[in-house]
Amino acid sequence: MGQLREKIKKAVPAWLMYCYYLYSATRTYMYDIRRRVRDKVYNANTEDKLFRDLTVAYHIIEKGLTMPEPRPGFGKAVVLSLCNMVFSYDKKGYPRDNISFVQAVSVLHEYQLFHKAIEYTPDSEVSTALSRVLEMFPDLKGEKQLRLSSKDFFANADQPFDKFCRSRYSVRHYAGKDIPLPVLYECIDLAQRSPSFCNRQPSRVHIVKSARKKQAILGIQNGNRGFGHLANTLLVITSSVSMTKDIHERHENHLNSGMFCMTLLNALHFHKIGACSLNWSVARQQDISIRKLLHIPDNEVVVLVISCGYVPDHFSVASSPRISANKITSEHL
Ligand SMILES: Cc1cc2nc3c(=O)[nH]c(=O)nc-3n(C[C@H](O)[C@H](O)[C@H](O)COP(=O)(O)O)c2cc1C
Repeated sequence: MGQLREKIKKAVPAWLMYCYYLYSATRTYMYDIRRRVRDKVYNANTEDKLFRDLTVAYHIIEKGLTMPEPRPGFGKAVVLSLCNMVFSYDKKGYPRDNISFVQAVSVLHEYQLFHKAIEYTPDSEVSTALSRVLEMFPDLKGEKQLRLSSKDFFANADQPFDKFCRSRYSVRHYAGKDIPLPVLYECIDLAQRSPSFCNRQPSRVHIVKSARKKQAILGIQNGNRGFGHLANTLLVITSSVSMTKDIHERHENHLNSGMFCMTLLNALHFHKIGACSLNWSVARQQDISIRKLLHIPDNEVVVLVISCGYVPDHFSVASSPRISANKITSEHL
């Protein structure tokens, strides 16, 4: 069968093969794309979508509160929109013990306390909305942002897995000290221990230390404001599409390299390096820019950027509470 396929490949001109692959790839991708479109148009599960939007918004405020230098009055538009979401969530009668709802209210409270502590009054629209939320829900307490010493943060970095796992947080504050290349290579070697499909190991890593290149990447990535510029190193994780065979393996790059990224984050934590994943959910133009900048071959897809650096003596991390296992699990016994 394999031989026959090779013979056909040789006999058929490349442009025709290209058209055939494009046709079958488009059909297969349409199957996935339609599900996304259906979700956007027909899925009336507003509770799920409110949960998503509450989480995205409160996380922006969490991040703002834990920045190296939080800016007084930061995030006005997001705070107002989060207050409105809290009101509309409650008006719809959804459960008040929902983790995102509780955390949203809690983060708004922290935002207010932060500004009181620095004796800064947010503008009147924000102050009024905040007061209303806190009057309505005075008793909802979520997880506070954590202020830690570097010693405490890494205290469990060499402990048994459960403790280790619970001690890793995204770090968005870095000190100036350089991370030596051999340490990064050791972390990448550890990440290579991740499982991969048929052991095909599609992940590739681009280590970026050049100030010019870091700045260019951070300038087109949309989630590093306020801390990205402190990163000593950016790790750009890509995945080789040449390691996949046919279109049915279309998700394997992001899946395999996603697993690789998780091990890499753990390896960095083990080596007492602070790290933060930076999404690469970008439009075409940004993707083309990073390819040009780092000479990323056409057969690699960019999966994630990780900012990293040694940490200062004291810093804050966003608490980012998790939904418990029993809420995300179905049993088929
Ligand atoms: C794929 C992915 C993309 C992310 N992108 C960003 C980003 O652009 N900026 C950022 O500050 N954090 C980003 N994060 C970090 C998440 O905000 C963080 O992992 C989440 O809040 C859980 O917190 P934890 O990592 O501290 O456990 C990203 C995480 C993942 C997995």
